[in-house]
Amino acid sequence: MNHIVYMSRAVRPLSDQDLRDLLDQCRYDNARHEVTGILFYSHGNIAQLIEGAPAVIEPLYERIARDGRHSHVLQLANKPIAHRSFAEWSMAFHPLESESFRALEGFLLPHQLPPTPDSLPIADALIVDLVRQAVLGAADQSAL
Ligand SMILES: Cc1cc2nc3c(=O)[nH]c(=O)nc-3n(C[C@H](O)[C@H](O)[C@H](O)COP(=O)(O)O)c2cc1C
Repeated sequence: MNHIVYMSRAVRPLSDQDLRDLLDQCRYDNARHEVTGILFYSHGNIAQLIEGAPAVIEPLYERIARDGRHSHVLQLANKPIAHRSFAEWSMAFHPLESESFRALEGFLLPHQLPPTPDSLPIADALIVDLVRQAVLGAADQSAL
């Protein structure tokens, strides 16, 4: 199993409806392909970690990188991992209307994010913490 981590910029700010559509699409497709991970979004900044079989996540990453909704896609890691760090696929962002998102499966408010798992090697955990902080800001780090 491998994980891939990247950062990118939304081409235009994503509305609550855009984020909901992305959440629905990703949750459904990733569950079918046993892809897990986490996506962070705030003010047009995006970072995502995807984990799964290399034969699945490499082409998925290529598709994501070509997606017209974002640009400046920069891959930060692509390497074998011993275990998944995220049991399910989820997405963390601040919606304008939080109430309507609360019950959505796969959605987390940034302050509800679990700490980066101890099972990740230190260098990988550092990348995840860095991208999380870069996108969501230090105030939303539950570990702090
Ligand atoms: C920021 C971002 C993250 C995405 N993450 C995923 C993902 O985790 N899984 C997924 O199947 N599609 C994801 N997509 C959607 C893909 O880019 C693409 O639309 C989807 O794989 C369908 O591709 P196709 O239309 O070529 O079949 C993401 C798109 C964006 C903009």
